[in-house]
Amino acid sequence: MTGAGQGVGAQIARNLANCGAAVVVNDFYGERAKAVAVELTSAGATAVDVASDVSDYNDVQRMFTTAEEHFGHVDILVNNAGNAGPSESIVETVPFWETSPGDWDRWMKVNYYGVLNSTRLALPGMVERRFGRIITIVSDAGRVGEPNFVVYSGAKAGAMGLTRSVAKAVGRYQITANSIALATIETPTTAPVIQNEAVRKEMLKHYTIRRLGQPADAAGLALFLASDAASWITGQTYPVNGGYSFSL
Ligand SMILES: NC(=O)c1ccc[n+]([C@@H]2O[C@H](COP(=O)([O-])OP(=O)(O)OC[C@H]3O[C@@H](n4cnc5c(N)ncnc54)[C@H](O)[C@@H]3O)[C@@H](O)[C@H]2O)c1
Repeated sequence: MTGAGQGVGAQIARNLANCGAAVVVNDFYGERAKAVAVELTSAGATAVDVASDVSDYNDVQRMFTTAEEHFGHVDILVNNAGNAGPSESIVETVPFWETSPGDWDRWMKVNYYGVLNSTRLALPGMVERRFGRIITIVSDAGRVGEPNFVVYSGAKAGAMGLTRSVAKAVGRYQITANSIALATIETPTTAPVIQNEAVRKEMLKHYTIRRLGQPADAAGLALFLASDAASWITGQTYPVNGGYSFSL
């Protein structure tokens, strides 16, 4: 469970733990991962924290080694770490045409390479055991586009595409891979923007259900996709977005 030290990831970790999963709580910030792991174990669940950077392949390898040392193997991978990486500013501050290649890494590394790294390292064990669930948290920005999130949107669209291709590559091994495309969820990262009443009011005009999301709104589908009930669902991207966009 990557990026599980706060927000959506922490809530997915809680849901999985409540259903009996042993959870590896990963975050770039060790203290965040530890706090969530302590919360879960204090409630009687099984969890271990691992501080690692999903954009660094060797670091992700260390995360999987820790998972295997504690729990034997990994059945479910939730690629959740995202946004602009640990720097946590999600909005591009200048128009895309004024950015340069050096500006793009912070979005590409976590939102695209982070998913590549973790998915690549989860698969050998899943293929060997003929079972696996891969759930990638993406964004409606990657489905419908956002003018101030050009690089982020591209990275999230890429993550959806690679998840879909992985689904085709490993379906014969009873491994499913799906994406969940979120619109605005209230988390520590989005709070500074959406706490502004005028901004919030303007945003709400675009939501069919006239409220922004909470982490619990996002976490329910992740839990379902990890369950046996979802064993014939793969290669899909599901918007969870209060009606910000619809799928046909
Ligand atoms: N909150 C939203 O409105 C929203 C909307 C659409 C998509 N999403 C996506 O949902 C996911 C969760 O969003 P959130 O708002 O809960 O995020 P958040 O920023 O509140 O929490 C993400 C956590 O991931 C960790 N993280 C960041 N980079 C990392 C890295 N390289 N390695 C390991 N951990 C790292 C951060 O330290 C943080 O604790 C992200 O992928 C985000 O892009 C969020």
